[in-house]
Amino acid sequence: MAAQAEPKTVPAAASRESVTLHDNSTGKQLDLPLLSPTLGNKVVDIRKLHSGLDYFTFDPGYTATGSCESKITFIDGDKGVLLYRGYPIEELAEHSDFMETAYLLLYGELPTAKQRVDFVGAITRHTMVHEQLTTFYRGFRRDAHPMAVMCGVVGALSAFYHDSTDISDPQQRLIASYRLIAKMPTMAAMAFKYSLGQPFVFPQNRLSYAENFLRMAFAVPAEEYKISPVLAKAMDRIFILHADHEQNASTSTVRLAGSSGANPFACIAAGIASLWGPAHGGANEAVLKMLHEIGDKKRIPEFIKRAKDKDDPFRLMGFGHRVYKNYDPRAKVMQRTCREVLDELGVHDDPILALAMELERIALSDDYFIERKLYPNVDFYSGIILKAMGFPTAMFTVLFAIARTVGWVAQWNEMIEDPDQKIGRPRQLYTGAPQRAYVPVDKRK
Ligand code: CMC
Repeated sequence: MAAQAEPKTVPAAASRESVTLHDNSTGKQLDLPLLSPTLGNKVVDIRKLHSGLDYFTFDPGYTATGSCESKITFIDGDKGVLLYRGYPIEELAEHSDFMETAYLLLYGELPTAKQRVDFVGAITRHTMVHEQLTTFYRGFRRDAHPMAVMCGVVGALSAFYHDSTDISDPQQRLIASYRLIAKMPTMAAMAFKYSLGQPFVFPQNRLSYAENFLRMAFAVPAEEYKISPVLAKAMDRIFILHADHEQNASTSTVRLAGSSGANPFACIAAGIASLWGPAHGGANEAVLKMLHEIGDKKRIPEFIKRAKDKDDPFRLMGFGHRVYKNYDPRAKVMQRTCREVLDELGVHDDPILALAMELERIALSDDYFIERKLYPNVDFYSGIILKAMGFPTAMFTVLFAIARTVGWVAQWNEMIEDPDQKIGRPRQLYTGAPQRAYVPVDKRK
């Protein structure tokens, strides 16, 4: 994002190195430049492939494809490293807070004391939602999944904030970004309150981002709500851990939606839809369901066996990751936070935590998981913490969406400001019918 601080980053350099592609069928050959990142694997620039050899690439699931240049987040999946703008996630979780992390992701640098005060003040002034938006909630069934509600109301923001939908205006982009980050906790808490049949709680701007969210989620007008500093710290840390994660499914969805010039509210709603799936943000909900289904340590071997059986669709939820082939660094922080939260709540022998730890121990010593480098991911422990805090499982992915909004917004801004930005338009390997003539209905067999 423009303004405030200029990121001190190194642009991806086109080195003189290249790879040569020999086409055995035509004898043609093509030199493709190798791009050098600041960190991580070199990247083959295939932009000239189609014009040079008249071919497309084929990479379902984008397992070997870099879709964009980015300066925001770096993951080394083999070593279990996650950096936001160069800073290790463990250090941010330990020493920073979510607002500072949000500034870092958006602007590329940690804020000075003044920048921090100004940023928090600016976000805080946008925490309320247009009063008419509350009528949207009332249109949903009380038992609607809160992610369904979030898809709807976040997309609907573009119908309310017309003054921040012109993506060619940097000031409008900035205000839309701040509005999204500021209003997500308010809208998420409203989705929760609506499901409970309780009145909406207005934000209180003297509170921190995490405190404010906990209060909007759990306070009732009839009683005073006391915010636990331990729970607020845990909530803030969970937000930090989920704030960004490079070009994952939902972030790529936001970028793809935004590449056509769609407004930011619509793009973030698309990201929420993608996040909802159980292979992505929905996994924390699925982990808890799985742990309850297992129910007893004695049944762990039965479920491990099922997870390994290729004829059984069951997978160990909260295990495995497309990029991490080592312990997810976020899972380690999450495990520690889990203990702190349970201690604060006086839960010393939580059977579900004990079951999760035993499942982790057994899986990590099993050849199937060792060979495939399947380790616990961020979702493995987060559900236990959120449940202990009082959130129902259906809210887990909503909390993920609150935090990830910062990453989505940062990535969306980066895309819009990229001079090489084009509409995202992949090609395909067509394996359908060849061209054929239309057959009138009376001649069809
Ligand atoms: N349980 C059992 N087997 C697994 C699991 C699992 N959780 N995850 C992967 N495998 C096996 C898979 O069957 C395959 O085996 P084989 O090589 O014999 O065919 C091998 O490991 C590689 O798996 P993959 O499906 O090719 O890997 P992927 O990169 O396409 O999938 C994943 C990554 C996260 C979707 C997958 O590991 C999974 O479904 N995990 C459970 C869901 C989950 O926890 N998701 C949260 C991800 S982290 C949060 C986020 O990013 O949103």
